[in-house]
Amino acid sequence: MIYPVVKYGNPVLDRPAEPVTQFDAELEKLVADMFETMYAAHGVGLAGPQIGISKRLCTIDITSEQDPSAKIVLVNPVIISTESKQTEEEGCLSLPTFRAPTSRPLKASVRAQDIHGQEITLSGEGLLARAFCHEVDHLNGTLFIHHLSVLKRDSIRRRVKKMVKAGEW
Ligand code: NI
Repeated sequence: MIYPVVKYGNPVLDRPAEPVTQFDAELEKLVADMFETMYAAHGVGLAGPQIGISKRLCTIDITSEQDPSAKIVLVNPVIISTESKQTEEEGCLSLPTFRAPTSRPLKASVRAQDIHGQEITLSGEGLLARAFCHEVDHLNGTLFIHHLSVLKRDSIRRRVKKMVKAGEW
């Protein structure tokens, strides 16, 4: 099932998500739906709150469905270490059409649970590190625009407001 992606302005994106406690068939179905939704939207990452489900889980595939082994599910993820810095264009399915150079760690390690509740630790570099940080941010109620300058963030806010008024958001 493909969910509609929640857009910036919806309060579900602003609040910390709840921990996942049940590792059951329902979670497996939700994760399958999240991958389907993420691929349909041409995203490389999707967090629960972005489909209106305020739970601490996300899906990531930086190969955009090219490599099945690149599919990552993180349940209750925490960034445990970061190293160095990168600044690249970043976007978000909840802020369609907006992209901006965003500073992130060059390397990041994340501790999480897999879909069965087993503890896992993954390390990523470049785009994968960026995806880890971006998705964990979502679970804490933070969007990439919070990493931009106030000036840049306000400019995006104003443009979204105009689009809301025009019925384009
Ligand atoms: Ni996002």
